[in-house]
This record gives sequence, structure tokens and C-alpha cells, in this order.
Amino acid sequence: MLRRRANDAVPIGSRVLAFSSSHICARLAASRLPAVTGNDGAEFCVAAMAEERTERMALRLGLIGCGGMGRILARVIRDCVPEARVVVGYDPFEPAQAGFNREFAAAGAGSLDELLSRVDVDAVLIATPNHLHCDQTLAAAAAGKHVFCEKPMALSVGDCDRMIAACKEASLKLMVGHSARLKPLARRLREFVASGELGEPRHGHATYLFSQFKERESGLWHVNRDRSGGVLFHIGVHQIDLFHAIFGPVRRVQYAGGHYGSQVRDFDDIATILVEFASAATGVITVASVSPVPVNEAVFVLSQGYARLGDQASYLEFWAGPKQLARIESKNVSGPDAVECELRSFTGWVLHDEPPVLTGAEGRAAVAVAEAAQRARQTGGAVEVTTG
Ligand SMILES: NC(=O)c1ccc[n+]([C@@H]2O[C@H](COP(=O)([O-])OP(=O)(O)OC[C@H]3O[C@@H](n4cnc5c(N)ncnc54)[C@H](O)[C@@H]3O)[C@@H](O)[C@H]2O)c1
Repeated sequence: MLRRRANDAVPIGSRVLAFSSSHICARLAASRLPAVTGNDGAEFCVAAMAEERTERMALRLGLIGCGGMGRILARVIRDCVPEARVVVGYDPFEPAQAGFNREFAAAGAGSLDELLSRVDVDAVLIATPNHLHCDQTLAAAAAGKHVFCEKPMALSVGDCDRMIAACKEASLKLMVGHSARLKPLARRLREFVASGELGEPRHGHATYLFSQFKERESGLWHVNRDRSGGVLFHIGVHQIDLFHAIFGPVRRVQYAGGHYGSQVRDFDDIATILVEFASAATGVITVASVSPVPVNEAVFVLSQGYARLGDQASYLEFWAGPKQLARIESKNVSGPDAVECELRSFTGWVLHDEPPVLTGAEGRAAVAVAEAAQRARQTGGAVEVTTG
């Protein structure tokens, strides 16, 4: 992307003057633009300075955790976010580190401290197992780096509060990657419900069923409660956050669940929560990792109709009673996908102070509901959600 920007900025078209030894020259040479010689050195200088200026203004990112999601984030930055670039990655698992270095032609850091001490890193992307998010965010904030942290923000509200406080005290931005609310059809759904066209929120249900956690290159940390938090922290926070985006904050939670499979040992592999929203609407969320049938859908009931986000958010329907008002297929919707949307927003927030699509507050709200559900499981009753 940088190459394309440099090209755009060059006032002499695609010509690049061969120049003396400087890192600017080396970078332009690396761009593989055709070299020319001549007397237009001044124009070249303008072009080179434009690139340097662009370079200085770019958000320079360090990737912490180079596994599945980490590399998706890095690809989206490379392919879709011209104002940012990943300059370094760190992963203690050698194959993940080597894969990152190969794919992004970047050097790896030897440790988290080494990555955080680099002056050419302005911000970090954290895509590590869930139990590491809090400590790594605190370390990044102590090193003066802005933070984009994958969901779930942390495994307790106390940790979320520490992360928010550390970033706030250091005047740093903190975004949590709740991508489900940013899928193109989820964005449409949110706008439609907010328009009030079908009345007030009444009830919703969201169901996410799959057959088992898939083993990753570095192992299967997802099935341990101390590392993933369990199905509600690991998967359910997506549905919880989607509800939060559409119906507003949750105030009370009840829980029902069970353990039926062998993959997960120390948490329920089917979890259902009944949530009461501050708006007086109610909702039911079910997440299961032992379902022979895969399901990912959500229905939002309003006072004069309902909306259905179906089949992995691939279509969205609006109904007024028995009459279908609209059906939209995701393949026909233009605009950025969810990860591009959040990473563009994070970049714009850090570089230009643009209003963010997500902050630590949404990450904390989702964790607060999952934590309340955990307490409800223990007590067997309804539990109030800890508000910020
Ligand atoms: N937003 C989404 O839709 C979405 C989708 C998938 C995963 N995620 C989140 O992304 C995060 C990573 O999940 P994943 O599926 O990529 O898992 P993964 O196992 O594929 O990758 C995690 C990587 O972190 C590395 N790691 C472990 N300890 C580390 C440390 N101390 N420092 C740096 N790296 C370390 C591992 O070696 C591994 O390569 C999780 O928090 C997960 O919840 C979000």
C-alpha cells in the first residue's frame, strides 16, 4: 500500500531518478518503479520527501501473537489500511513467528519487551490467547503504545478496568476487536433498529452452535478455562456485544448450561443466558461447542416487527408481522468488512482523533455480562451486571 501511496504522490508520474545512497533511495528502489536519470532531481526530492512525510504519518504497528487471528489482522492492515503498517511481530511459538516473518517480509522481535521497546512502534495489535490480553495491554501502555486488543478484552471485569485505567492514565487509545457488530449486515441492522421504523426493542435471541474447537498451529488453548474463559468468554462475547450494539446495555443475567462432550474438561460446553436489558427488553443467547448442526443466527423482535440476521450473517430480513419488508444478501452489500472497519477506525482514531467504532468500554461491557453469567451459574439465580 505504501508503494501505491508513493506512486500517487510522485508529481513526475512513474519516473524515479536514480539518486545517491540514502534510505529513501533504497526504499524507492525497492518499490520497483522504473528508474530514470536526468536533471529533475528537485522534482525527485519533492517526491521522496512526500513519501517520507507519508511514512512518518503512518501508524506503525507491532503484532503480538502471530497465529490465526494475528495474521488476519496483519493481512487486513497490509491490504486495506493504507495509513498503517505492521513493522514487527512477536510470537514465542517458532513456526508462527517464522510464518509471520515469511508472509510479511518482516523481522520478528525476540521477546515482548524487545517489541515494546522499539521506537518505531506506535501501537500494538494483541491477538494472543485470551488470558494474556490484560498483562500485555498493561505492558504496552507502560511502554507508551496504543492498543488494539482482540476479544474477549480479558477474563474479568477487574482486569478490564485495569486495562482501561492504564491506557487512560497514559493518554493512549484502547480498542477491543468486537468484529461481530461491524459485519456489514450487522451495521445495517443496527441502523434500522435505531431508526425506530419497526418500534421499540422487545426481545432477541442469538444462537451460535458448532461441533468442536479446531486445533490451531500452536495447540488448543481454547478448551482450557484458565486460558480461554470458556464458551461465553471465548465465543459468547460476540453475541453479547451484538445485543449490546442493537438493544443497549444488559442489567441482569441468568444462566443454564451443561457439559456433554469430552473436548472441554473444565467448563460447560453448552451455555445459555437469559438477559434483561436496561431498556426492559429481554434476550436469550445460546453458545455450544458440541452441536452436530452448525447454527449462527440472531432474531431481534421489535414492537411492530422483527429482523433476522441469518446463516452466519449472510442475509438480513426485516418483517412487519407476516409481511417481508426487505431481504438483503451480504454478497450484495458493498463497504468494508468487519476487521477492515475496526482497523481503519483504530488507525483514524490514533492518527487523527476520529471517533472510534469501538473502545475498551464495549469490551468491558461484554466481559461484565460473561462474568455475571459465571456467578449466576454458581448461585443459580439472577445476577446484576457490574456497570462501569
Ligand atoms: N474477532 C474475531 O472474530 C476473532 C476470531 C478468532 C480469534 N479471535 C481472538 O484472537 C486471539 C487469538 O486467537 P487465534 O485464533 O489467532 O489463536 P491462535 O492460537 O491461532 O494464535 C495465538 C498465537 O498467540 C501466540 N502466543 C502465545 N503466547 C504468547 C505470548 N506470551 N506472546 C505472544 N504471542 C503468544 C501463540 O503461539 C499463537 O501463535 C484470541 O483472543 C481470540 O479470541 C478473534
